[in-house]
Amino acid sequence: MTPDTTTRHTIRLAPSGRDVNCEPGDTVLGALERAGYALPNNCRAGACGECRTKVVDGEVDQGIVLDMALSAAERADGYRLMCMAKPVSEVVEIEFGTDDAKPKLFPPRDRVLCVVVDAADRTPTIRELRLRPVGEPIRYWPGQYLMVGDPDAGAPPRPYSIANAPRSDGELVLLVSRVPDGRTSGWAHDRVEVGDRITVAGPYGTFIGDPSTDTPVLCLAAGSGLAPILALTDAALRRGFRLPVTLCFSARSRADVFDEGLMAWWTAKHRRFRFVPTITGDEPDEALPAGGVRGRIPDVLPAVVGDDLSGHSVYIAGSPEFVETCTGATLALGAPPERIHVEKYHPHAAALTPDPTHLVRN
Ligand code: FES
Repeated sequence: MTPDTTTRHTIRLAPSGRDVNCEPGDTVLGALERAGYALPNNCRAGACGECRTKVVDGEVDQGIVLDMALSAAERADGYRLMCMAKPVSEVVEIEFGTDDAKPKLFPPRDRVLCVVVDAADRTPTIRELRLRPVGEPIRYWPGQYLMVGDPDAGAPPRPYSIANAPRSDGELVLLVSRVPDGRTSGWAHDRVEVGDRITVAGPYGTFIGDPSTDTPVLCLAAGSGLAPILALTDAALRRGFRLPVTLCFSARSRADVFDEGLMAWWTAKHRRFRFVPTITGDEPDEALPAGGVRGRIPDVLPAVVGDDLSGHSVYIAGSPEFVETCTGATLALGAPPERIHVEKYHPHAAALTPDPTHLVRN
């Protein structure tokens, strides 16, 4: 049966019983996102299986999807891929989230074996590690973090945010700042090599994007605080977010700015994306990176984004001091407190288990 492209349909969420309108011709995933519900997704093309969801009542047109993304047994059990599914019946009821219709966080997994497929120093103090799980990919929300370390090598597990949106090959990008005398960051910088096998645990954290955001977005990051901001931005731009996104990255010097290639690509591809590196060091002769300004974010913010943030959503990630000063600066420019989301990094927290203070979401 083909989908009706002229009638509105209703997506009913179970177990909450909440209803979401689905415009004619829209997919279930599109309708959920428009209504502000987060459903995991990756390829948006029926190829990865990430949006697999059980239809408990009603009928959808599944469209053309790959068998590897949805097996015959899963189809027989009622599962469908929401990125390609269009309602056919007037009401389609799907399994979604919890009683209050909040998205489910994925249960964290312990000791997930990964291979280090790449490692590179991105700045004098930040090393990027690329990990691929040997088994099932880790399912996570952009903005979440993993616990990474090797206690046998004297490196207690520490939280590291994932710097990319989920990929079909499961690859995870981590940015590790070298902390003075830090055992785990020292291990990640000096001892972990390409080809090593390491175990991680996760995902953890609730610093996840709000898909119902219908305002311009301002992201402020310092150091490896850029990691969750990159993952959130990657996911939002892939999702087709069309409002302005400004990403300010605070760096001490030109050498501390990285990912300029990715920023240039996002700028070219998404007309309303803007990258503003802000250089805080006092070397006036040093050339600024493209689009860069000199000064601390709280001081340069009005010149960069104007003096009225009342219509913005704000995401801030970095050290507690960075987060606090930037939060104060955005509040002073009128940003609504309920739309300021923050991620504080506590580099010296000696955590063997996830540190609940690592993530603070307003
Ligand atoms: S998002 Fe990849 S199959 Fe739906």
